[in-house]
Amino acid sequence: MNFVGLLFRSSIGRKILMALTGLILIGFVVGHLVGNLQVFQDPDHLNGYAEFLHRLGPLLWVARIGLLVSVVVHIWAATVLTLENQAARGGEPYAIKHTIRATLSSRTMRITGYVVLAFLLYHLAHFTIGAAQPGTFKENLPAYTLQQEYRVAGFPVVDAGATVADVHSMVILGFQNPVVSAFYIIAVGLLSFHLLHGFDSLFQTLGLRSGRWSAGLRGFALLFCIVYFVGNLAIPGAVLLGKLEPRTTAVAAAAAR
Ligand code: HEM
Repeated sequence: MNFVGLLFRSSIGRKILMALTGLILIGFVVGHLVGNLQVFQDPDHLNGYAEFLHRLGPLLWVARIGLLVSVVVHIWAATVLTLENQAARGGEPYAIKHTIRATLSSRTMRITGYVVLAFLLYHLAHFTIGAAQPGTFKENLPAYTLQQEYRVAGFPVVDAGATVADVHSMVILGFQNPVVSAFYIIAVGLLSFHLLHGFDSLFQTLGLRSGRWSAGLRGFALLFCIVYFVGNLAIPGAVLLGKLEPRTTAVAAAAAR
């Protein structure tokens, strides 16, 4: 059996696949959060950044397909490993001593995973396709003209004067709906909780969960998940508190039409 076949067909291989795809997805959500936090700067930043991503063209599609494959493999490996564990216990539910030792975050992995998946589908309908809140979708808002060039690592990637989609206003107008904001906050809360046990499993697979590293790694995972949650919470939170507003009343009026 070749190496890739071994990864898919053996139990340890599936654990490694879960860890690797989990790492890719963590990398994405952290990068996505850092990009999104530009909403706190002037609209040139988030709008220039979104334009830069769209201009990547085929590269953007490579990243999208990579993410989709990671999500599918992650869910597949999780399902097969769960079924294997159940079969190994002869279909019996966990014995009491096991449940006591398992943390709340580990026991809720399946449900938090499903909620995050449902959130992701809603999120794509919301900000990528525009089906959830068409009135506030970027393509239905007045276009934005960049006041200054957008730079990545010091290199200009979008020129000043470029006409781009107003993603900055789309995000703010979307989160002015308290129900939408509440759903985002709950979803990123559950995602952070999912990541907490995800890190534990990752360290276990890498053989780092016992020994002198374990306490430090656990502390790191907890801190990481709290910072990740607060970073995400800050965006809808600031909109609901009126700290972030659409750039002009004209944009707000266009969205209200
Ligand atoms: C407060 C939290 C979030 C905000 C403000 C936000 C914002 C956005 C925006 C504005 C876009 C569309 C960008 C564009 O088309 O120009 C987007 C796309 C996306 N977001 Fe988020 N997001 C948030 C959380 C998340 C989370 C937690 C996940 C993953 C679980 C996620 C996954 C994605 C994906 C997969 C896309 C599609 C990227 C593509 O076009 O290929 N987002 N997000």
